[in-house]
Amino acid sequence: MLTHKLYVAGQWMDTGTTIDVCNPYDGSVIAKVCQATSEVTERALSSASAARSTMAQLTARQRGEILDRLSHAIARDKEEIARTIALEAGKGISFARGEVDRSVETFQFAADEARRLCGELIPFDAAATGSGRFGYFRRYPVGAIGAITPFNFPLNLVAHKVGPAIAAGCPVVLKPASTTPLTSIKLVELLLEVGLPAEGINLLVGSGSTVGNAMVTSEKLDMITFTGSPGVGLGIKAASGIKKVTLELGSNSAVVIHQDADIQKALPRCVIGGFANSGQVCISIQRIYVHRSRYEEFRTAFVDAVKQAVTGDPMQEQTLVGPMIEEREAERIEKWVQEALTQGATILCGGKRRGTLMEPTVLENTTERMTVVWEEAFAPVVCLMAYDNIEEAVARVNDSQFGLQAGIFTTDIKTAFYAVDHMHVGGVMVNDMPTFRVDNMPYGGVKLSGTGREGARFSVEEMTELKTVMFNLN
Ligand code: SIN
Repeated sequence: MLTHKLYVAGQWMDTGTTIDVCNPYDGSVIAKVCQATSEVTERALSSASAARSTMAQLTARQRGEILDRLSHAIARDKEEIARTIALEAGKGISFARGEVDRSVETFQFAADEARRLCGELIPFDAAATGSGRFGYFRRYPVGAIGAITPFNFPLNLVAHKVGPAIAAGCPVVLKPASTTPLTSIKLVELLLEVGLPAEGINLLVGSGSTVGNAMVTSEKLDMITFTGSPGVGLGIKAASGIKKVTLELGSNSAVVIHQDADIQKALPRCVIGGFANSGQVCISIQRIYVHRSRYEEFRTAFVDAVKQAVTGDPMQEQTLVGPMIEEREAERIEKWVQEALTQGATILCGGKRRGTLMEPTVLENTTERMTVVWEEAFAPVVCLMAYDNIEEAVARVNDSQFGLQAGIFTTDIKTAFYAVDHMHVGGVMVNDMPTFRVDNMPYGGVKLSGTGREGARFSVEEMTELKTVMFNLN
């Protein structure tokens, strides 16, 4: 079996200790990957710190070309990468292909940003003491970036950090989830193939306590960009000192099906939004609020549709609901469902678990404070709840620790704008699922869903610092 090395300080490195990468569907070991020690981590951090000027000196044209070439290389190797994602993350193969397609665009958007990164003239003479001054502000790379990424989009959520970092002229220390490092290893191979300076990227695989902590507390990094759980995110914010930090954390995303909704349009979006990738998506639908006048109609049609969702082997073309990433995650959600049942919830379909496979599950008679509603489920479980008017629906959407994205299906423009103005979230999707995302839009949340925004242009803003320049012409 192949043992993959880490990429540290410009070379592939055998650290002498490995972890197993497992297929979550059948538990088989699919590869061994070297594990970073504290020493190796320090080398990577020093290398990234030293590479700041190399990366900052790349011209916009060079940065754009590297990213263009990377995008093309990913498109070329699409099938191989999609199969790797399906194998290590358990994502249905057709969704894995969709993820690869998205990352082709994500790197293209980053290439565009590399070329248009600029500043603005400052009208100094608008100020009483500014006459005879000329100047501008422009953006400079923030420095070395630590990128800590999750298992659920092992390519595209890495792309959202590495692409903008290259566009901004920043070296990266990448720590992918230990469960899904193979896609990142392939990405680093492609980065080197397309001409990224050798020290522009470091790849560390290892534990949060060894690698993650060292990255977060190191003075050699200037910024941490993290996607993952709220608990870990809060810890990073507390420990990262003066560094810039962007956090893309979880949510218990809601969608509202209003009394005038086109239910035929809403249904397939709610099934995909609730169950694709087994609900292991930060903007997966966890709560569906349905106007009481349409509740029975929606419930019947939704449960029928969910029962038809193809569950099981990620390598089958039709699979929507594959395994959860680890058995303990499937056990956790099974426990949350059982707890809700003891508290008065009822089950409309699903609820059973076999190893890492959790059946697509729909609950009703749930309330906002049940664990399965209040915490981020990150699992194929959706809770149906009825409401009486739009004010109540929006208030219940907002009755959450999280605020990433929400959706509303309505044919009334006033209702739509009421939701847009009053939902306390980072994005409102009108007549679509909260799970909608394309990779050039701002993406991020409020409350426990995080700080900062991703999407190439917005990440590049986060990964650069403004510098003001003034010439006194008096
Ligand atoms: C996430 O889970 O945060 C990413 C969702 C997406 O990119 O579609």
